[in-house]
Amino acid sequence: METEISFPYGDNFYNNAANYWSEIPPTVDGMLGGFGYISDTDIRSSRMLLKQIFQSKNPPGREYALDCGADLVEQNPEFLQTAKTYLGSNIMDKKIGQMIPIGLQNFEPEPNKYNLVWIQWVLGHLTDDHLVRFFNICQKSLKQNGIIIVKENVTSLNIVEVDEKDSSVTRPISYFKQLFEKSNLDCLRVVKQINLPPGLYPVYMFVLRPKKLKGEASQEESQNNQEDSDICKENLKN
Ligand SMILES: C[S@@+](CC[C@H](N)C(=O)[O-])C[C@H]1O[C@@H](n2cnc3c(N)ncnc32)[C@H](O)[C@@H]1O
Repeated sequence: METEISFPYGDNFYNNAANYWSEIPPTVDGMLGGFGYISDTDIRSSRMLLKQIFQSKNPPGREYALDCGADLVEQNPEFLQTAKTYLGSNIMDKKIGQMIPIGLQNFEPEPNKYNLVWIQWVLGHLTDDHLVRFFNICQKSLKQNGIIIVKENVTSLNIVEVDEKDSSVTRPISYFKQLFEKSNLDCLRVVKQINLPPGLYPVYMFVLRPKKLKGEASQEESQNNQEDSDICKENLKN
């Protein structure tokens, strides 16, 4: 059954967020609202998930990844400038293709280019309609076996919470799942971020893949999906 949730997005939803972020220093602590010290824990779990994904059957390729929100696609150009300096010319030349200063609500990624799209701690800044649009174009930007990973805060109760300070919303897992469905994405795995300090929202990683049309998925793939969704249920219990 669908959860009915109404969003109090004002006309200035995006402008207010841009104003909020224009006052925030371009540092790890700034990006994480004063919780910069959880960065290593966050990265460790993300790495572990990626390692498992690359070791799975039919892994995505490893040529191009798209990182959304503060790293490669970001609404605040100053953050991208700082990221360039932080990464240094060696990494910039060898590892980084493009940095794109644009809000995700207006972003059109190149079709059929990416093996992996990583979207972390930014979807609360998109309205539902923009989020579904974004997921749809992200799917078109994927290569064969490509996946989308969403890593976001979720609410513990089945409600959407609004933060007027940074002009964002935090959604419950059930609502994320409805939005994935609406975007024709299969949720292959749901993994809870462990070792966060008390008092923070729970954080989950969702591994998503474009739904195959009926008859398109091979028997082996259907079986893999079943195994993945069993892991997903297991993780939700913890
Ligand atoms: C909480 S930080 C997360 C940074 C990074 N993704 C991470 O996981 O550490 C949110 C970032 O999203 C950016 N942002 C806010 N609204 C956005 C939008 N509509 N489109 C793209 N980026 C946005 C902010 O400028 C900020 O850099």
